[in-house]
Amino acid sequence: MNSRRTFLRNVSGAALAAGALSSFPAWARLAAQSGASDPPKIDGPGIDVPGEDGLILRSYRFIDLETPVEYFNTWLTPVPRFFVRNHMHEPSELTADDWRLAVLGEIEKPLTLTLTDVAKLESHAVVNTLECAGNGRSLHRPQVPGVQWGKGAVSTARFSGPRLRDILQRAGVKPAGKHVMFRGLDEVPGKVPPFIRSIPIEKALDSDTLIATHMNGAPLTKHHGFPARALVPGWIGAASCKWLTEIKVLESEFSGNFMSPGYRFPNQPAKPGDAVKPEDTHPLTALNVKSVISSPLDSARVKPGKIAIQGAAWAGEADIAKVEISTDGGASWNTAALGHDQARYAWRLWRYEWKAKPGDYSVLSRATDTKGRVQPDTAEWNPSGYLFNAVDQVKIHVA
Ligand code: MTE
Repeated sequence: MNSRRTFLRNVSGAALAAGALSSFPAWARLAAQSGASDPPKIDGPGIDVPGEDGLILRSYRFIDLETPVEYFNTWLTPVPRFFVRNHMHEPSELTADDWRLAVLGEIEKPLTLTLTDVAKLESHAVVNTLECAGNGRSLHRPQVPGVQWGKGAVSTARFSGPRLRDILQRAGVKPAGKHVMFRGLDEVPGKVPPFIRSIPIEKALDSDTLIATHMNGAPLTKHHGFPARALVPGWIGAASCKWLTEIKVLESEFSGNFMSPGYRFPNQPAKPGDAVKPEDTHPLTALNVKSVISSPLDSARVKPGKIAIQGAAWAGEADIAKVEISTDGGASWNTAALGHDQARYAWRLWRYEWKAKPGDYSVLSRATDTKGRVQPDTAEWNPSGYLFNAVDQVKIHVA
């Protein structure tokens, strides 16, 4: 098998230093540039990393895998190419037969559902672009600690399963119920707090918020939350709790680690070095407007003539209104054609054809959404490095 490991072992340091990397896939360049030329063994017993030959390993301890931007070329991301973000260990023993989903809290009738019960409920499908709030963290300046995601902690799939609303209506939400908490079955190492978060009741009752059991028509894989996960469309990925085992209706927002201090954004722009008090922050909800160039790749050498500049753009709960491309470092902009495939919470693929003359170019993409939000030149810096959405840029050499 021509695995990433074998590949990296075979690429000599001299070749990397000579800039020969531009013709290699993004993961190879990133791994080589980050010095990870001998990634840890990731296919040992009990560890099954999908797309080993394609995804970028960002953390081995708790599997975190990034989708290379060149895979942003299909509207739906094939599951083995879909990024993976785990805060802790995936459940080691979890079978469809043993799994139970408890519904409790501020409700009239507590429920315990089996997977068969869930499968009997009416299924609804939502195409959603799932993006980790930390996507692009490595691009914030100054840099901030945390998983150093490049641009690919984002992917799109058709999720399906019953509406959360239908389950909550069965249980009968009491008037006091204002937030809905999800608990995952992650295996929690040591003193790490469990992965529990909540969403407001309005979003929980939205007809597109799901208890997803399927992704692109197939049962969820373990990496993506088998046998069921929350799917909170348009919101940061952390809202969509995997390996869901408990839904609890609460009177107020859940206050554990992954709600506070985790996944919060300063109310006022923060300067590096500023201490931001928790009361001056708010929980992250919907995603920003953003576009990423998937082709040509950064540092590519391309031949003069017609070049297709392509990529994807998304805006959380809003739609993409336009994507503009600049081939002169931002001096002038042209509108890209948006792809035909579209759905409320899904990215739009886009394309712009450019007649390139020899030279060095800085190619930029800038998305605008239907709320009038425009991708900024510089992303708003924040201490946790969330929601990076600056105008995207690749530098290319035409010769
Ligand atoms: N759910 C549980 N139980 N544990 C987790 O670590 N990670 C969250 C979310 N749901 C997480 C979770 C985060 S931060 C993201 S971005 C998405 O899952 C990623 O979903 P994916 O791994 O299917 O791409």
